[in-house]
Amino acid sequence: MQIVRSSEELAKARAGLSGTLALVPTMGALHAGHLALIDEAKQRADQAIATIFVNPAQFGPNEDLARYPRREGEDAALLEQRGCNLLWMPAVDDIYPSGFATNVSVRGVSERWEGEARPGHFDGVATVVAKLLLSVCPNIALFGEKDFQQLAVIRRMATDLSIPAEIIGVPTVRESDGLALSSRNAYLTDHERAQAPNLFSALETARAAILAGQPVARALGEGRSSLLGGGFGAVDYFALVDSATLEPVETPDGDLRLIAAARIGSTRLIDNLTL
Ligand code: PAJ
Repeated sequence: MQIVRSSEELAKARAGLSGTLALVPTMGALHAGHLALIDEAKQRADQAIATIFVNPAQFGPNEDLARYPRREGEDAALLEQRGCNLLWMPAVDDIYPSGFATNVSVRGVSERWEGEARPGHFDGVATVVAKLLLSVCPNIALFGEKDFQQLAVIRRMATDLSIPAEIIGVPTVRESDGLALSSRNAYLTDHERAQAPNLFSALETARAAILAGQPVARALGEGRSSLLGGGFGAVDYFALVDSATLEPVETPDGDLRLIAAARIGSTRLIDNLTL
């Protein structure tokens, strides 16, 4: 696996790759969820390119950018084992050189839910992902369904800006008890870790209830209550939404997603399920 840092090195390495290209953007500290994206990339394209860039623009003032885990050596070894062909690890100045003044903001789909809880976050994501897509020019780019709203924002952005890469969502990788893999799981105490899978089970219960014909509002209300009774201190949202627009829906028709965010101790967890 070749490792490059500057945009010039990337352009040179990119020119040397033949066949179809799949891009997997990450912020590093890789776990099995990230590596599933590489596996899927290898299945779908001739060459897999990963990026590791802890993007300052998507961190809020109260989110600790400086404390974000950085494990370049370990990450590179994991990617190499998985058959990744090229790793791009740009510096902040490569992505945001002095004078950088452009912001990609996706109206509508980015505004509710995570957008409300983390103002500016999706502008930072859309701006950096647009840059990564335009720098690498892949045939496809893969993102986890774990961050379902992020995936919807990126799909909208790529369509709107006519970026000629197909955006592919990859199913969430979970622990055996259902907890979605996330770097934030490391912050949970043993007791919180034992209760954290209640987020997934609340979503599963709500899905079963809605599919069995229970009114949507009641199923969502019961989902919220079960989280509060199951170790979570606050529920930011527990909603049924349209998969493309993220607008809440009241009747279970069409391509829908159950999405939730809740706090356990000082950790905020998100998860989602298809209906
Ligand atoms: P990061 O949190 O590092 O995640 C990189 C990719 O891995 C994202 O597409 C995310 O959805 C996916 N992922 C995380 N946990 C997963 C799991 N349990 N199962 C499947 N996929 C999972 O998301 C970002 O970085 C950034 O916002 C980024 C898109 C790189 C832009 O900076």
